Amino acid sequence: MKHLLPEFEKMKERYPAGFESSLVLPCLRRIQEDRGYIAETDIDGLVEYLGVPRIQIEEVLSFYTQYRRQPVGRWHLEVCRNVSCSMRGAERLIDHLSNKLGVKPGETTPDGRFTLGTAECLGSCGTAPVIVVNNTYHENMSLEKIDQLLGGLE
Ligand code: FES
Repeated sequence: MKHLLPEFEKMKERYPAGFESSLVLPCLRRIQEDRGYIAETDIDGLVEYLGVPRIQIEEVLSFYTQYRRQPVGRWHLEVCRNVSCSMRGAERLIDHLSNKLGVKPGETTPDGRFTLGTAECLGSCGTAPVIVVNNTYHENMSLEKIDQLLGGLE
């Protein structure tokens, strides 16, 4: 994380003194972009750098499912399982993916290619069910569309 401190310093200039906690989200986002996930050492570093309580960072990480605490595979598949998506078959999609990939939600395939995850509402209820693959939305999903999607992921 230390190599990102110059970037964090530039971000800090945009905030008035005393508002260091406002930097928690953008710093975490930048760390995740850089490494792919947020490690314990990153949290330690942010506590020291921003001077915010550790619990404040932990709360952000546990609230926003977009932040990852562990490395993920080359393709990160996140299936929304909130109300609208569930009503439109999200659980069947999760089971289908789980069977095809041989992993449960939260796991990565042994070859490191796929991580299967679930997400709370992705804000696209009108096109449920929704799957996000590496930040790209795939909407109105079906078992057939999942098979096509997987076939296109190298
Ligand atoms: S419930 Fe799935 S996008 Fe809203």
